Amino acid sequence: MNVESTPTRDAVLDVSGVTVRYRTRGHKRPIVALDGVETTVERGRTTGLVGESGAGKSTLGRAVLGLAPVSGGSIRFGGRDIVDLPASVRRRLPARVQAVYQDPLGSLNPGYPVSWSLKEPLRSRGISTRAEMTDRVAATLEAVGIDPAASHRRPAAFSGGQLQRICIARAIIDLPELVILDEAVSALDLSVQAQILNLLRDLQEERQLSYLFISHDMAVVRHCCHEVTVLYRGQVMESGPTGAVAAAPAHPYTNALLRASPVADPVVQRARQQAAPTATDHEPAAPVRGCVYAPRCPFAEPQCHESRPPLREIAPGRKAACHLYPQWTEELSD
Ligand SMILES: Nc1ncnc2c1ncn2[C@@H]1O[C@H](COP(=O)(O)OP(=O)(O)OP(=O)(O)O)[C@@H](O)[C@H]1O
Ligand SMILES: [Mg+2]
Repeated sequence: MNVESTPTRDAVLDVSGVTVRYRTRGHKRPIVALDGVETTVERGRTTGLVGESGAGKSTLGRAVLGLAPVSGGSIRFGGRDIVDLPASVRRRLPARVQAVYQDPLGSLNPGYPVSWSLKEPLRSRGISTRAEMTDRVAATLEAVGIDPAASHRRPAAFSGGQLQRICIARAIIDLPELVILDEAVSALDLSVQAQILNLLRDLQEERQLSYLFISHDMAVVRHCCHEVTVLYRGQVMESGPTGAVAAAPAHPYTNALLRASPVADPVVQRARQQAAPTATDHEPAAPVRGCVYAPRCPFAEPQCHESRPPLREIAPGRKAACHLYPQWTEELSD
């Protein structure tokens, strides 16, 4: 996660036009969790997927893992579309895509020593001898800063930060092509969070790991992601290199996410207040004809409520879905 390193332009993951609808009992209308979403992760780099609760971030992670009902679009992994793969091929994917979640205790089997959980990815491929597995476990634990001598202990014997290191070890032990980090540092204290982010960066540099970094926290994404895709209600509002997006957001929603603390500017302040999550964010929303963000956008004009703005290129490597770009940014600087 060295934000300064040069781009390689070798996409490990290329998501395009992905739509996921959940049908739920008691609701006539399906929940459209993702609606034509696109993003990419390049080899050895980190793409942040940011947005508030209910935006569809985890759904995208699950879609890549083959665990969400994708009804449209393509998910190209290693150059191959994996959406319609037969189940037999799909079953071999987990070794190549690994995930780390927010709750490490819930991700590890509480009744077994952590070494058992670490061996899981190796066992499921059935390629290592017992001695090889033991060596690999020790070396990987060491790489994440856990004493291999403690590997016989059960998860309850470790702190939250140590457990997250163990989950990271399990995710990387079999050299995956992609690691999905779904709110992987969100539950940790700030100082532990920083240590884990540093660990992820070091491991990425050593092993050329590629990360899809899912977070609701723009400050963290800004700190550790090369690229960012901003999601709102299942749609991409904006995407591009994190530094450029943070310096000059092209979508009012990104602007609101970036400016979380109170400020003197009333226009900016209004944008921030309107971006605050609302209690209805998990309700199946009525289909919106225009921009999904328009009802909360302080800059919205009639056309924003009438037609959906396409996600268009606004600069090399940068896209935004806003009818009013760049006009709204001029309003900010007035
Ligand atoms: N299995 C499911 N069945 C029905 N609806 C679902 C399911 N999983 C997610 N949803 C709905 O899809 C939408 C997107 O959910 P998702 O969990 O992907 O959001 P998120 O961005 O990860 O949110 P959070 O920050 O809270 O984790 C939400 O409206 C959610 O209620
Ligand atoms: Mg989530």
